Order: sequence, then structure tokens, then C-alpha cells
Amino acid sequence: MKTIRFILSAAVLISAIGCGAQSETDRKVEALLSQMSLQEKIGQMNQLSGGAWLKDEAAAGNVGSILNCSDPKEINIVQKAAVEESRLGIPIIASRDVIHGFHTIFPIPLGQAATFNPAIVEKGARIAAIEATASGVRWTFSPMLDIARDPRWGRVAEGSGEDPYLDAVMGVAMVKGYQGDNLSDPTSMAACIKHFVGYGAAEGGRDYNTTMISERSLRNTYFPAFKATAEAGAATLMTSFNEIDGVPSTGNKWLLKDILRDEWGWDGMVVTDWNSAGEMIAHGFSRDLKHTAEQAINAGVDMDMMSYGFIQYVEELVKEGKVSEKEIDRAVRNILKLKFELGLFENPYVDETASAKVDYAPEHLEAAKQCAVESAVLLKNNGVLPLSAARTILVTGPLADAPYEQMGTWAFDGQKEHTITPLDALREEYNVIWEPGLAYSRDKNTKDFARVRNAASRADAAVVFVGEEAILSGEAHSLSNLNLQGAQSELIAEVAKAGKPVVVVVIAGRPLTIERDLANCDAMLYSFHPGTMGGPALADLIKGKAVPSGKLPMTFLRDAGQAPFYYNHNNSGRPCNGTETLLNDIPIAAGQTSLGCTSYYLDTGYGPLFPFGYGLSYTEFEYGKPVIENAELERDGVLRVSLDLKNKGKYEATEVAQLYVQDCVGSVVRPVKELKRFERITLAPGETKTITFELPVAELAFWNFDMEYVVEPGDFRLWVAGDSASGEPVGFVVK
Ligand code: NOJ
Repeated sequence: MKTIRFILSAAVLISAIGCGAQSETDRKVEALLSQMSLQEKIGQMNQLSGGAWLKDEAAAGNVGSILNCSDPKEINIVQKAAVEESRLGIPIIASRDVIHGFHTIFPIPLGQAATFNPAIVEKGARIAAIEATASGVRWTFSPMLDIARDPRWGRVAEGSGEDPYLDAVMGVAMVKGYQGDNLSDPTSMAACIKHFVGYGAAEGGRDYNTTMISERSLRNTYFPAFKATAEAGAATLMTSFNEIDGVPSTGNKWLLKDILRDEWGWDGMVVTDWNSAGEMIAHGFSRDLKHTAEQAINAGVDMDMMSYGFIQYVEELVKEGKVSEKEIDRAVRNILKLKFELGLFENPYVDETASAKVDYAPEHLEAAKQCAVESAVLLKNNGVLPLSAARTILVTGPLADAPYEQMGTWAFDGQKEHTITPLDALREEYNVIWEPGLAYSRDKNTKDFARVRNAASRADAAVVFVGEEAILSGEAHSLSNLNLQGAQSELIAEVAKAGKPVVVVVIAGRPLTIERDLANCDAMLYSFHPGTMGGPALADLIKGKAVPSGKLPMTFLRDAGQAPFYYNHNNSGRPCNGTETLLNDIPIAAGQTSLGCTSYYLDTGYGPLFPFGYGLSYTEFEYGKPVIENAELERDGVLRVSLDLKNKGKYEATEVAQLYVQDCVGSVVRPVKELKRFERITLAPGETKTITFELPVAELAFWNFDMEYVVEPGDFRLWVAGDSASGEPVGFVVK
């Protein structure tokens, strides 16, 4: 504590001699920085993975942050060494991948995006922060903002899908939830926007693969969510593993200084991904580990996660004049600022009894359930759902009672003992005949199928839970074939033979190619790994106690060969003209021709299986014609468009109305349409509401031919619809 007193008195002195524009935090940072040796500064820039055994490193001032420890006792041990034994008593920050909940696990981020409900997403992040901080974790590596247009990439599970606007809205909601009103609140956790940038564009969906992204698409598609969350105050940012136009992100000065600092004016702290500095050697961008440290720091990295390059070589690099002390001070300032803002100097320790009071609190479980309800997407229903009249149901499939799997990827701290599975929850509602059919999602053993079919014939309806084990999506888990694994499709087909209504529930980490399974069921609900409360949520939807309202945050493909496939692609010179010549339409020995519908496949045609934004309800919504208040707008004007939305069915239900806009002609080719606004609207049976979207014309700006961010005057079209492929366009003009 003597150190802290000294620091504070130095801060008072500096403020007395007047550093006008400096904030109180800046003054504290400068006072502390001025007392630090080079070695102590380098120690702050080093992040290590581990728990209590890192205490000696902390005491020696060799570590600024730890990751992968969520045990409050161990965190306190390392913290005590840092605060009470290191020369300057600078606390460490304990960090963790708290991606979709800490103990109470919410749906995976892709599922959260399917809610189109930023309020529930913010609440989920707040709850994650309350639980994680009670265990001493004050920094999470979330949200992941990588635009994902290829479901083969396993990490689509961790983000908000393919759309830049939805990505930004959900990212901002998470940042707000994690960080709360004030970072110094002990229940606040610093967010980390990641992976900067373009990591989701890995070619072929193969994780860690190279990317091809032009500067214009970076700016129009990949940057917006980072910029929005940076502006929303995200405290930290993580560099990505991939290279951008030949330069790995971790050594990319253009990204980390020119864009992030100079253009956006962001003043947070930059951390590398796990050994992404070290990996610049494999990229062939750095000669050796020492070179990686030089390149990363000079590019703008503040903290090194697990390459050990900074701690080993930076002193030498400074002596050799390859890294200036000015760069080191910049990095350490950002790190110390975060520590002051988190209040770690005043409250370095966590109350070791705190987590028991908040983990799995009833209101946390309730919010997790609500989020899971809203995240489920109804893809097909020929009238069998909800199963309100059924009494006896067959429950089958490898995901019906898989408490660990339903939590999904990156659920490090979730305990499966707290998961409620669909089987548990359905037993509360129905007489359940339980036949697993398959032991796990990759199981190919069909020995029990006859028994399952027999059981189906004794039930009023069958509910088949299929999908993916948690480990089949997430980091390093890309797939080239997106059909259901193992004998799951065969299980659905077998159950269908019993002739009873068949409901399929897919619980997975990504959009799978489920076209053939749709043909074998009467209804299909798609639940991106729904977390701790997935069972009760799905049971409510099946029974009709809740009505589906989720919408797809990614395009669903007929076949993995269609990937990458996303709704907001640029106009092509040969757009679909509605006439597809499919494989079997081609005569034998046909002559060469390039006529016909254009950018499509002979086998799967032009369209996806389901478009972005798609999702059914138990009711039907009728969209009126959009009326534009003023169809000739100035560039500083606001577009106002209204329409009536009617609930034509007999259930109270919520619809996600979506506003899409197309800029018809640009100085560069523009997307066919882009999501600009959405709203969840709840309507009673028969009710009609008038909804109004307001869109400042300024939000129609894009990076044009001259690489300027401008609204180009001309003709535009808009659609208001329940998905990205519906609705009739209405025109307007920007003058
Ligand atoms: C590697 C992952 O890419 C990143 O998302 C994660 O936060 C770090 N490892 C730390 O676990």
C-alpha cells in the first residue's frame, strides 16, 4: 500500500503544477509511468496463461495480465504477489474468454444475434459480467465481431453472422453489458473487440487461412462493427491471426495506428491474439521472435498474449534503437489507464465468497431462458407446432439430453450439472417415451432404430433432437461437409416412417445443410446451441407457451458447395432473371451455351435454402405497403418510412420487421441490398400496428471510388419485410 500512497501523492503534485487537459486518470498514469524502469514497463506488456503458479512472475513485475484462470482464490494469490511484493505494486488484470455467459450460459453469440434483440443481448452480457467479476475476472475477450459468410468456418458460432449492421448493433449491446455504466464498478468487465480484422474471411472457411479483402470491403463491411464498438467505448481490442493484403494484423501499422488511432481516435488498449505475434514467423513476415516483438510494438500492439517475445527481447530492442521508449510508454500508458479505470489500484482483490451469491441466480436463469426462446428460428411448420394437444410424445436424438453439448463452444466455466435439457423440460409437459436412438451426434450405429420407430408409432408425435456436439464448431473446427453428422438424418427418416407428426429440433453451432431433413419432418426449429436454459426454452416453444420469433443471422445453404453465400453481395452483371436451367434440364450432347440464369449452380440453383433474416412464427404477419414520408431527400435529411403490420393469426407473437436499402447506382458497384434497421414488434391476434423507421440519409454513406465516405446522390430502393428476400421495393431519391 505504501507504493500506492506514493503514486497518488506524485499525482497530486503533477496536478498542482498544472497539466490542464489531463484527466485524473491520465495524471495517475503519468505519475506511475515516471517511476517505472524499462524492465517493469515490459513486464506490464506481458500476458501469461495460468493461475497461482504465476505468483513469482507477478512479484517480479514480469506480468501485466493473466488469462485462463477463473478461480478467485488463485487470482487473489497472483494479485497479492503483484500488489504486495512487486516494487511498484501494480495490480494484474485477470482475463478470460467469457463469450456467452460465465456460469449461466446463454445461447452462443450466433444464437443471440438470431434474437435481433439488442436489449436481451446487453442483459446477457451484464449477467456474464456480474458472474465473472464475482470470480475476479475483470476483462473478457468478447465480443467477436468477425463478419462470417461461410458456415464451414467453425467460429461462425462466436459472432453475429454475416451482416455488418446486425454485427455492430449486437457488438455495441455486448460492450455496454460487459462494461456497465462505469468500468470502475466492481461488476464491470472490460470488453475486447476481436479479431481485428477480417479473420472470418478465411478462404474456404478454413480457420487461420489467408484472406483476400480489398481496402474498400474492409471499410464497407469489416470495419463498421469495430468502429461502432470503439465509439461505444470498448476498452480493449485484439488483433487477428490472419494477414491483410500480405501484412499480419499483429504487425500491421496501417490497421493499428493509421486506422484505429489516427482515423478513429480510439484510445483503448491493444492485445495480440494467442501467440499471434510469434506466428508472424510462420507467416514469413518476421525473421525470428525478436523481430516479431519489434514489428508488433512498432505497429501499435500494447500487450503480448503468450508469445514471450516482448518479455525476452524488448529491452535489447530498445538498447539497439529498434523500438523507442516512446512506443513502450505508449503501450504502458494504455495498460495502466485500463487498470486505473477498472479501479484495480483501489480494489485489487475479489471477495472469494462472492461468486456463490450470484452464480446461476434465478434472474440470470430466467434471462438465459428468454434469450434462448428468442434465439430459436422456426424454419418449417406444416401446422403441427405447437404440440398443444399431444399427450404422449417420443423424444429421441443425440441432442435431447446432452447437458454439456447444448452449452456450445467457448463455455469454459459453464457447469453441465446446471444445464436443463429438452428431455428434462419436456417431461414436465408430456408423457415422454425416451429413446436416444444415437449416443452422440457423430454416432453411426443404427442398432436401436427399429426400437425408436416402434416407439414413435406409440406416441402422438415425435420430437427428434439432432445437431452438433459443442466441439464441432468454434476455433479450429471447420468442416467441409455441413450435413448432419453420423446417422442423424437416417434417424429422422426412420422416425418419419411411423407416420406420426415429426418435429425436428436442430441444436448446432452453425447453419447446417438440412434440406434433406426438412423433407422428412413436419416442422423444424433451429436452435443455435442454446445454453444452460435451452431445454425449458425449447419445451415452451414446442408446447406453445412461447411463440418463435428468431430470425436467421446467416444465410442457410442447400449445400456447402454454395459457400460463401450472403444476401448483401454486390450486384453482378448477370443477376438472377428467374430462369434457372438445372442439371437435369440439360439435353444430352447439348452444345456449348452460356445463356440462362446467371450467377448460380446447375445443381443447387440460384437461391439459398433460407435467406438471411428468415424465420416463421405460429402466426402469420401481413406487411402493408411502405409509405415514404418524403421520397426526395437532402443529404442531411432523414428518411421516414411507415407501414402497417398485421398479426393475422391466433397467437400473440413478435415479428422482426427489417428495413433494407439499395443504392441503385454508385461510383463503385453497390450491394443488392443492405440491412439498415430492424425492430421487434409484438402484436395480439388480429392486431395491426403502424411502424415507422427513421434513417438519417448520412447512414447511406459508403466508401466510394475515391475512397471517401460519402452519400452519393441518386436513386435508392427500400424494402420492409420479414426477411432479406421478401417485400416489394419502393423508390426514393437523394438529391
Ligand atoms: C485464441 C482465440 O482466437 C481468441 O479468440 C481467444 O480470445 C484467445 N485464444 C484467448 O483464449
